[in-house]
Amino acid sequence: MALVPMRHLLDGAAEGEYAVGAYNVNNMEQIQAIMAAAKETQSPVIIQASRGALKYSNFTYLKHLMLAAVEENPDIPVAMHLDHGNSLETCKEAISLGFTSVMIDGSLKEDSKTPTTFEENLEVTLSVIEYARPLGVTVEAELGTLGGIEDGVGSGKVNLTDPDQAVEFVEKTKVDALAVAIGTSHGAYKFKDEPKLALDLVKEINRRIPNTALVMHGSSSVPQDLVAKVNKYGGNMPNAKGVPMSAIQSVIPHGVRKVNIDTDGRMAITAAIRKVFMETPEKFDPREYLGPARTALTELVARKMRDLGTAGHAGDFEQKSLADMIEFYREKGLL
Ligand code: G3H
Ligand code: 13P
Ligand code: ZN
Repeated sequence: MALVPMRHLLDGAAEGEYAVGAYNVNNMEQIQAIMAAAKETQSPVIIQASRGALKYSNFTYLKHLMLAAVEENPDIPVAMHLDHGNSLETCKEAISLGFTSVMIDGSLKEDSKTPTTFEENLEVTLSVIEYARPLGVTVEAELGTLGGIEDGVGSGKVNLTDPDQAVEFVEKTKVDALAVAIGTSHGAYKFKDEPKLALDLVKEINRRIPNTALVMHGSSSVPQDLVAKVNKYGGNMPNAKGVPMSAIQSVIPHGVRKVNIDTDGRMAITAAIRKVFMETPEKFDPREYLGPARTALTELVARKMRDLGTAGHAGDFEQKSLADMIEFYREKGLL
């Protein structure tokens, strides 16, 4: 097993009725930690990079670190995915780096801030499908904008996914996966009070488009023990709150096949590094704080893999290349 198209993992998850975590990465330690968790739990895995992550790593470094993860873990099916691509050009760039999957986030304009119209979203998503599908590359799109269900963070405009629009969007684009907006947001401050999510909306969308993998962004749970640890060791994250894992688990039987997690990993790393700095200020070898950070992230991700039901499924997958996917799309009349 090695690098696979993300669609292959999503179809396996649908068959097994579980979700695959998509973990954001920026550097070597994060990639190593996620792969160690995948190995320990025998899970398929999606490693994803945002535009910011690719820029931070000068593109080539992250590409080669991801490929190293694949080479080091021949038994683990891995998809390399672009998170929140903002244009056809960005998606093309990721594909040229060897990513097997791209997200075109047409819910927002190229500035990644301003919400688009349905038609604008359709147009940019179709342009990516036209480019990526003949290459066998998986495409994820987004309909609706993330943000708190109460007061709107993220794009600033909360726009829950409309099920009628989801049906039309999927019929017209034939995307592999659709990210839905149900009241989650990115980051560590998702709710002012109790978590409030439109979980029934997932069920309705899944009822209407049962063959499309649904994606939940903003799915970090912001574990309170991590918040406490960050704050104990000199951090300042008051009132940080996330999506309870039980809420995510409740929609996995309703078509959620990809669950995006970044913030929790950042917090696990930060808490571990803060602890070393605070308790042993004499240390200055990066390995002495990046090592514990890597271990903390491995533990966090391994727990997620078990909670999402991904654990134990690594061996279910045959090797599939992008060329195999081209055949698959042809057979399904999607190309
Ligand atoms: O979608 C947001 C992810 O957490 C990536 O964040 O753009 O800061 O890398 P980033
Ligand atoms: P979190 O900020 O909740 O981890 O969400 C990450 C995400 O959706 C990346 O696309
Ligand atoms: Zn996201």
